[in-house]
Amino acid sequence: MIMESQIHERPVFENLLFAQSWEDPELDIEALQIAPSDRVVVVTSGGCNALSLLTTEPRELIAIDMNPVQSWIMELKLAGIRALSHQEFLTLLGVKFIEEPSPNHVSATALYAKVRSLLSPEARSFWDRNQHMIQSGVLQAGRFELYLGMFRRLLKFVVGDRTLRDLMRQSLETQAEFYRSRWDSATWRLFVRIFFSRRVLGKRGLDPEFFKYANGVGSFGKQWLGVARHALTDLPVRENYFLTQICFGRYLNHNAVPRYLHPHYFDLLKENAGRVRILTDELEKFISRSEPHSFDKFALSNVFEWVDEQTYEQLLQQLWRVATPGARLCYRNLLVRRERPASFEAHLRSDRERARRLLWRDRSFLYSNFVIEEVIK
Ligand SMILES: C[S@@+](CC[C@H](N)C(=O)[O-])C[C@H]1O[C@@H](n2cnc3c(N)ncnc32)[C@H](O)[C@@H]1O
Repeated sequence: MIMESQIHERPVFENLLFAQSWEDPELDIEALQIAPSDRVVVVTSGGCNALSLLTTEPRELIAIDMNPVQSWIMELKLAGIRALSHQEFLTLLGVKFIEEPSPNHVSATALYAKVRSLLSPEARSFWDRNQHMIQSGVLQAGRFELYLGMFRRLLKFVVGDRTLRDLMRQSLETQAEFYRSRWDSATWRLFVRIFFSRRVLGKRGLDPEFFKYANGVGSFGKQWLGVARHALTDLPVRENYFLTQICFGRYLNHNAVPRYLHPHYFDLLKENAGRVRILTDELEKFISRSEPHSFDKFALSNVFEWVDEQTYEQLLQQLWRVATPGARLCYRNLLVRRERPASFEAHLRSDRERARRLLWRDRSFLYSNFVIEEVIK
């Protein structure tokens, strides 16, 4: 029996925490190598990555989250895919672009009226009560996105409007010099250190309990400064939709979006929408009651750093039990190191080389580690 964490009782789980997934789905897609016969388990979060994984057309995709509101935003997105055109889907979510007119020919709430009958009674009741979130742009409505909105408003003063605008004119050749000469001031460094400190991020953006096991981590701000420098100097800024969402609350254009919003994949998503099962549950409980050899791929976000090491190992043991031979797992570490313990050497093979290569080009750039493991049976 896996030790139960009490984290799900925190008040942040009574509302929408993530309207978007702040993880680059291309990493999971390359790490997992999903085949048509696969049953995939993915942590729902904002639903973006679960839907992006659906473009690989697995046999079944189980999106699980212990926060019911995360399931309800996933339901809303899936209902939008089922019932709307691509333009309408973007409008429902409140997508906005920097370089193109934003889709807004009808109001998002009028489109909500078209999709609400596809929702479960619980999801419908939540979105009926919270239509203001849809009206003002649901992709910015999570607690974490509202926190980033605050960051964005202050960023304008820290680096200046003009520098922000000029960022999107940079190429990989000019970015590093631009960052050094125009962006990287003492005020910027202080701003990041304060805004993303353990105290401020914990209290305002996420929850202090999320960092319970991050005790060995020195300065959060210092880590974020390092990753921000990497994103602004080493990765093409114009292709990075996480960066434009953080700095502008917008995508650059139709191409610089997560897969599930890209016009190219929309029909495929419609065709495969019936393969998704949305579950509100704790991963540990779901896995404990699943049969051995049930699932082929697991995209596990960074859930392991919210539990202690012993619970992490028990969860790995259970995941191994329900996995098919050759199954693959991928997950992230934000601040707390969680990677296959030595005692699992005979059961899990780490693909460190691929994980390291993928982490370097991770457009979501916040994570300190990406882990890919293959099940040996
Ligand atoms: C771990 S959080 C991290 C957020 C992530 N980095 C992102 O931006 O998408 C992602 C989701 O995992 C869910 N979660 C965390 N631990 C879980 C667990 N043990 N079982 C089910 N869901 C869990 C949270 O409710 C949250 O919605």
